[in-house]
Amino acid sequence: MGIQILGICGSLRKASFNRMALNVVIEEGQKQGHAIETAAIDEIPLYDADLQASGFPEAVVRLGEQVADADAVIFVSPEYNYSVPGVLKNAIDWISRLPNQPFAGKPVAIMGASMGGIGTARMQYHLRQILVFLDARPLNKPEIMIGAAHEKFDNEGRLNDDKTREMIGKLLDSLNDWTAQLQPR
Ligand SMILES: Cc1cc2nc3c(=O)[nH]c(=O)nc-3n(C[C@H](O)[C@H](O)[C@H](O)COP(=O)(O)O)c2cc1C
Repeated sequence: MGIQILGICGSLRKASFNRMALNVVIEEGQKQGHAIETAAIDEIPLYDADLQASGFPEAVVRLGEQVADADAVIFVSPEYNYSVPGVLKNAIDWISRLPNQPFAGKPVAIMGASMGGIGTARMQYHLRQILVFLDARPLNKPEIMIGAAHEKFDNEGRLNDDKTREMIGKLLDSLNDWTAQLQPR
């Protein structure tokens, strides 16, 4: 039986390689019988405690509900200046202030794509650190760091690298097993 996975992309741009990679997660996930939905973080305002005091913005509440409802979450994000993109960190900061903080105990997988050779490794370890404070349950392996992304996706956003597709399949297998271990049904 499949699980319900929420995919969160750390890039807002239309031609994002990470969005393309998330689309492959959706394709491979569906093959494995998982239900995968994606989150929209582009309407989340900049974190401001005064704004929070007047009520959580709708986009934050919606994302919080999506995280809470999912069996597992997968982040697919670029690396910006050796770390987590501000838009993604901002979304996480908002979620972390919600009552019943929804990442607590949640199985989470991380992957990312960049044009450089290191394929978001530094971002991934910063994101893992953030997930510790959120009390999430990050999956250790496999690690998927898609380097030279511009050579692996074509102009239509299709992945032309079998090894990367195979790794994404393995990541989903592992996330499924990890979720079953943490949330036996
Ligand atoms: C502000 C900024 C900082 C960046 N810093 C890094 C970096 O530290 N490491 C890296 O590999 N690529 C870096 N890049 C290049 C991104 O990997 C590249 O723009 C990538 O295509 C972004 O992901 P996307 O295609 O999903 O939008 C940076 C790009 C921007 C805009």
